[in-house]
This record gives sequence, structure tokens and C-alpha cells, in this order.
Amino acid sequence: MFKILFVDDEPNILNALSRMLRHKRTMWEMYFVQGVEEALEILRTKEIDVVISDISMPVRDGFDLLTTIRSTTELCDIPFLMLTGLDETDLKRKALDLGATDLLNKPANREDLIARINNMLRIKAYQDEIRAQNVRLDLKVKERTAELESTRLELIWRLGRAAEYRDTDTGNHVVRVGYYCKVLAEELGMPHGFIESIFLTSPLHDIGKIGIPDRILLKKGKLSAPEWKIMKQHCKIGGDILSQDTVNWAPSATWQVLFSKPASKKSDNPFLKMAKTITLTHHEHWNGNGYPWGLSGNEIPIESRIVAIADVYDALFSKRPYKVRYETSKVMEIMRQNNGRQFDADVFASFEKILDLFCDIRTQFVDTPIDLKTL
Ligand SMILES: [Fe+2]
Ligand SMILES: [Fe+2]
Repeated sequence: MFKILFVDDEPNILNALSRMLRHKRTMWEMYFVQGVEEALEILRTKEIDVVISDISMPVRDGFDLLTTIRSTTELCDIPFLMLTGLDETDLKRKALDLGATDLLNKPANREDLIARINNMLRIKAYQDEIRAQNVRLDLKVKERTAELESTRLELIWRLGRAAEYRDTDTGNHVVRVGYYCKVLAEELGMPHGFIESIFLTSPLHDIGKIGIPDRILLKKGKLSAPEWKIMKQHCKIGGDILSQDTVNWAPSATWQVLFSKPASKKSDNPFLKMAKTITLTHHEHWNGNGYPWGLSGNEIPIESRIVAIADVYDALFSKRPYKVRYETSKVMEIMRQNNGRQFDADVFASFEKILDLFCDIRTQFVDTPIDLKTL
């Protein structure tokens, strides 16, 4: 049932309108009020489809009501019919300027009034349909965006795991590093955006291992000096993989036009930026004895100082081609020995405060080696 609101300070006019339209009561729910305040109260509580208002009223007039409706987000689209006197040309123009949908001379003739109201109801129905379609479209866009986002994030993590599979059992190391970095960044009071970024990008820290030959990456025992030199290159290889030059994925000019994406465009993607920083500097040491750049102290980006602790902590608990798995006491002994040398003492202090959380993460994402016979 359509809801129609009539506003006029003269009760006689409201009564006349009510009588005139009584045969419409089965289709229209009609409200008759004598002032702007009452009208606004009805507009706030009922979903009114059309407003029909007089101009001249004491205290607040019809223009005031029209202006309030047009400037209120929830009401601004409601069709508004202004009742005017025959000779009030200026007032009619003003009503249209303020956003009245239509005008009607007083006293209103029944057929004219019904025809105007029907027109406005049609306008309202179209508007409602457009709004409903916009809501549906908006929802669809949000769903698609969320899908794309989750696919993107999953790809990032799977890429990190792909690199880890070569020298660990399950690739869960990178998942744990992501979670360690998240809780450590939270403990350090880093901003929300930073926490989200480090959670998503720290799993890529060793992506450059993809470029290290098996004979070195999987070698049991100590690496020779030349082998170690090659191993250290995984930071720079990772940096290259995550370089800011967008991949030239469109093979021809036609493709580029079709997808309107220029080749080799510089990307401003903040995730890629942080991922690159981490891959390049996660082996730098607080005392300057790390690689590949020999940075020291605060020259090392904070994200890499966080990853360094998370990465070493997890690696010490894990079996690697070149080392056995250590017990908790041994892990903590090695970690503390490196506090202030390899690790930033401030970040380390936060790490010590949340050891329980690190332990929980380690238990939750435990390594379960893949049994090749079951594949
Ligand atoms: Fe590394
Ligand atoms: Fe690692």
C-alpha cells in the first residue's frame, strides 16, 4: 500500500482532501497533518511515498519542509507536490528551484490531484527500483572484490610456500612466520595497515631461494665459501622477483588496448613494496654483520627487524638440510645470545613478552610432512 502525506495548516482543507480521496483508501494509506514538525515526525517513522504540502503555514512553511526533506539523505528522493495559489508565480518558481517534483493550484480538482499523485507514485517506483538495483550491484561488486582479494592473498602465501617446499617438509614455516610477525607487530604497537601488510608479505621473505641451485640449497652440512656466496644471493633474487616493475603480461599492443594496461608500468602496490624490502633485508644484523648490504641499527627497516626474529626463531625449531631440530631451551639460548647483535633489542623485548603466543602459533601450524605414497 502506498503511503501519502498531506500537510496543510487549515483543518478544513485537510478534511476536504480526505473526503475527496476516500475511495482511494483501499490503495493509499493517507496521513493528514497540520504542521511541518508533525510531518517530519511521520516521515521519520513511516516510509512515505509522496508528500503533498501547502506553502503558507505558521512557524515553518512548505518551503522549509521541502528544504529539510531534500537535505536529509534518507528522505531526499521522496516526490513532493506543492499546492500553490493561482497567481503565485514567484512562489511556484521558488518551489521548483528548491526541488518540488510538481505543482498544483488550489483548490485542487479531484481528477487533477489523483493524476498528479499517480505520476509521482510512478516516479517513486522507478527511483526505488533504481536504488534496489544499485544495492544489488554494489553487493555484487563487493563480493567480487572480496573474492579477488582473497585469491590475491592466497596466491601470495602459496608463492611463499612454493619457495619453502624445496628445503622444508611442508611449507608451513612461511605461514608461521606470517603469524609471528603479526603478533609481534601488534605487541610493538604498529599501525593497523603495517600489521596487515607484514602478516601478508613476510611469508615471501625467502622467495629468492627459487633461484638457488639444489646442490647448494639442499646440501647436507656446511656450505663452502663460494657456495655461501651464492646462497646469500637469495635476498637480491627475491628483490628482483618482487621488483616494482609491473610484469609485462600483455603480449601485444592489441592486448594492452583491450585491457587498457600499459606494459612495464611502475606499480605503487604497498604490499609489493614491503615484500621487496623484507626479501632484501631480512638477513641484516643489528650490529652490521649481516648480509647482503651490511646495514646496521635503524638503517634496517623495522619490518625486516621483526621478520628476522620470527624467521630465526622458527628455523631453529625446524629440521633443515644443514641442521637438526632444536629443543625450546636451546632455541631460546641461541635467540638470547643474538639479542642486540643480530636482533634489535627493543623488538626482542616485545618478542620475550609474547613467547606464549609464539608457542601457540607453532603448535597450531605444526609441520606434517607430506607422504608421497598417498598422493
Ligand atoms: Fe632468507
Ligand atoms: Fe625463512
